[in-house]
Order: sequence, then C-alpha cells, then structure tokens
Amino acid sequence: MSFPTHRLRRLRGSPLIRRMVRETRVTVDDFIYPLFVTHAETMPIPSMPGINRFSVDDLCREVEEVAKLGILAVMLFGIPEEKDDAGSGAYAEDGIVPRALRALKKSIGDDLLLLADVCLCEYTSHGHCGVLDEGRWTMDDMSTDAEAAMKSSSIVHRHSSTVANDPTLELLAKAAVVYAQSGADIIAPSDMMDGRVAAIRSALDVAGYVETPILSYAAKYSSGFYGPFREAAGSAPQFGDRRTYQMDPANRREAVREAALDIEEGADIIMVKPALPYLDIIRDVRGRFDLPVAAYNVSGEYAMVKAAAQNGWIDEDRVIGEVLTSIKRAGADIILTYHAKEFAQRKLNDSI
Ligand code: PBG
Repeated sequence: MSFPTHRLRRLRGSPLIRRMVRETRVTVDDFIYPLFVTHAETMPIPSMPGINRFSVDDLCREVEEVAKLGILAVMLFGIPEEKDDAGSGAYAEDGIVPRALRALKKSIGDDLLLLADVCLCEYTSHGHCGVLDEGRWTMDDMSTDAEAAMKSSSIVHRHSSTVANDPTLELLAKAAVVYAQSGADIIAPSDMMDGRVAAIRSALDVAGYVETPILSYAAKYSSGFYGPFREAAGSAPQFGDRRTYQMDPANRREAVREAALDIEEGADIIMVKPALPYLDIIRDVRGRFDLPVAAYNVSGEYAMVKAAAQNGWIDEDRVIGEVLTSIKRAGADIILTYHAKEFAQRKLNDSI
C-alpha cells in the first residue's frame, strides 16, 4: 500500500517548493523570434495581433529592442515587391531579405543571430514552394473558370503534383548562398523538396561558407495552422495545396525518415513544425537523434491563443507559459515562436 506513505501533494504545497522540483524551464535563451520584412511601410498583421510586417528601417529598430530583451536569434521572412513564376525575389542580390540582412549586420552586428528562411513560396506568383513543371501551368491560365475547375479534385491533384523538385534545388541553393553573403548566420530551408539540404550544403561549401550551419525544417507537415502566415506573406498557393511536398499530418514514422535524411545530408539542427499538434513527433525526433531539435510554434497556434485571450476566454500569460513549456517538455531545445518578445517583456518564465 503506497497511501498514505506516498503523498505527491507534499511537493506541490507552495510556489517555492513547486519551483524547486520543476522539471522543465522555459527561458528567453530558448527562442528564435520570427520577423517579416517588406519593401513597403510597416503594417500590422490582422490575424496575428502584436506582429507586424516591418520596413527595413523599422526592422532594425525592432531587432535592437529584441536583442535588449535578451533574445538570441531572429528568423527573417521576406515579402517581395513583385512575384514571378520562378520566385526570383528569393535569390536576387537586392531582394528584400538580403537587403534586410545587410542593414541588420550594420546596425546590430554580431549581437544577435540572424537566421534566413529559405523557400520560394513568398516569391512565386503561384504561391508554391518551388518552380512548376515547365509548360504545364502558368498564371496566364488562371481564370475564374480555371479556379472553379480546380475545385474538382482530379485537377487539383494534377496541378499540385507539378511542383518540380530538382530544378527547385538550384534556386534554393542560390538563395542560401546570397543570404550567407548578405550576413545570415544560419540558413533555414522550409520548402520540403527532397535533397535540398545536400544541395544547399554543397553550394554553401563551394562559396566558402563551410562554417554556416543549416537548420532544416525536417518534419514540416501540410498544416492548416499556417493560415495567418500565408496572409502575412501573401503566400497562399493560387491552386491546389502543399500536400505533394509537405508531410501528411497522420504520419509519425515518416518524420523520423525525413529527419534522418536531412541529418545525412548535412543538417546541423532539425526542426518539427507545427509544434502543438505534433508534440509526439518532437518527442520521437528528440529520442532518435542527438542533434539540437527545434520546434516551430506557428502562426495559427499563436492566432488561437490571441483570439481566445481577446475574448477573455483564457488567461493569456498562463496559456503562453503552458504552451511553450509543453513544447520544451516534449523535447525541443529551441522554440520558434511569435510569443518570444512578449514572453521576455512580461517575464513569463513562471507564468504557469
Ligand atoms: C514557407 C514557410 C511557411 C511557414 C514558415 N515557412 C508557410 C507555409 O509552408 O505555407 C509557416 C510559419 C507559420 O505559420 O508561422 N514555406
């Protein structure tokens, strides 16, 4: 009989004793703060209260503030002036992310790590993460009739399967090198093309960036939780969806295969994304590999917390603490989260 000898409530009796036996602690050191940069004026993102798309000047000010709060790293996403079929804004030397990186290197120097997301979807007119199979689909074909026709699933399938893997690799590698040259400290490919970590690693090495780490979005699921991000970046696919390259939410073993391949290809840090609906995957990846594991607490996860809090339905600070603690408890060493700044400002370390 363990009762009454064993009373687990003994270690829960006061805030101090709870703090003493707490197993998981979230600190500001755990965070990477995602930031959007645009050619245009700074504008709030309606579905992500508290988050903006920044002009380059405002971005520099924001990053200084973030660094003062003790946050170690930011991840940049660019919103280009113009989009085209080939996503050329992603790898143009005067593109928005290279410009932002150069400005940040000047203003913040090495006081904070600059990560650059590598993907084409913010830069392609069709909104997909790679280029399309030549001749099979162009934006000129897109009419309202075509859109209506796409709703029939066979057509959606045909079109969504035309994202061309191998031709995309070259462009991703080119973007990675341009970002490294512009001052990125870490390169973070999020496109989910096969073989992109190897392609990026060898391009970085050839260009002399042998010391630049790759954080790969290794297990990135085809998720409904990216909605607000796509609004922010204007990157929703114009036809079909991302199911032919991002992972099926039902698959667990496949995430381990994805991570293993990225590691073999040279990834230095592996990421699981989204975070909350995939805590089991974070745990699996943590258990199987010894690399640092990152998790992306994505835009839709953030929007849910904000919406409920604005309605007075949840205690926001408590929920933010609980969300981030659960991601860390699942095994993440690094958390990409839009909550990073408010967590640091409001000192939410003990908000649970
Ligand atoms: C680009 C990319 C996306 C996110 C990060 N990188 C969007 C997508 O795949 O549609 C989503 C991040 C978020 O929702 O916060 N491929």
